Amino acid sequence: MRIFAPGCGSRGAQGDQDAARTEAVLDRIAGIDEMLFKSNPWGRKSFADSVQNEFDLLLAAEEEETGEILGYGLLRSFDDAELIRIAVVPEARRRGIAGRMLSVMTDHAGKCGASGIFLEVRSSNTPAIGLYRSAGFKEEGVRKGYYHDPKEDALIMRYSC
Ligand SMILES: CC(C)(COP(=O)(O)OP(=O)(O)OC[C@H]1O[C@@H](n2cnc3c(N)ncnc32)[C@H](O)[C@@H]1OP(=O)(O)O)[C@@H](O)C(=O)NCCC(=O)NCCS
Repeated sequence: MRIFAPGCGSRGAQGDQDAARTEAVLDRIAGIDEMLFKSNPWGRKSFADSVQNEFDLLLAAEEEETGEILGYGLLRSFDDAELIRIAVVPEARRRGIAGRMLSVMTDHAGKCGASGIFLEVRSSNTPAIGLYRSAGFKEEGVRKGYYHDPKEDALIMRYSC
């Protein structure tokens, strides 16, 4: 399994091939996102914009033997970075894939000079909360009734760089 940033490949002779692969990876990421976040998908265009946006780090996790995309993550870095998405397809969970992507993101945020990374997560999302805790995120507060479909509180968590 390898983790890479789509769209950050080489230029020149490989350029067209890389561009085609980036488009295919974006299709797959948007497809997984729609499947997992039915009520508020990020959208294919927003993922494509992230590739061009200097403040965003879009990551993909790929099964090297097959080229299959197993997961993705999106970090937006300003003074404090925000973890916008992290997800892994159901059949590839508990293999450490999200943990590896999160580790790339925390390194990246530190190198970009962010003081930390914050995120919001549904209070019932035990796997994600477990993931964030295991990566060193701490709970900082609750936003009551923040989510809809279904209505639920958001837990605010933060990682200090
Ligand atoms: C949350 C999610 C990204 C975790 O992905 P993953 O690749 O399975 O996570 P990892 O294998 O890297 O797990 C790392 C650690 O997180 C914690 N964790 C992961 N899944 C867990 C679960 N189901 N229950 C409790 N803790 C869990 C554990 O501490 C785990 O370490 P361990 O396996 O050594 O015990 C995945 O479950 C997912 O895609 N969920 C749906 C999308 C989502 O809710 N994303 C977060 C909001 S954007």
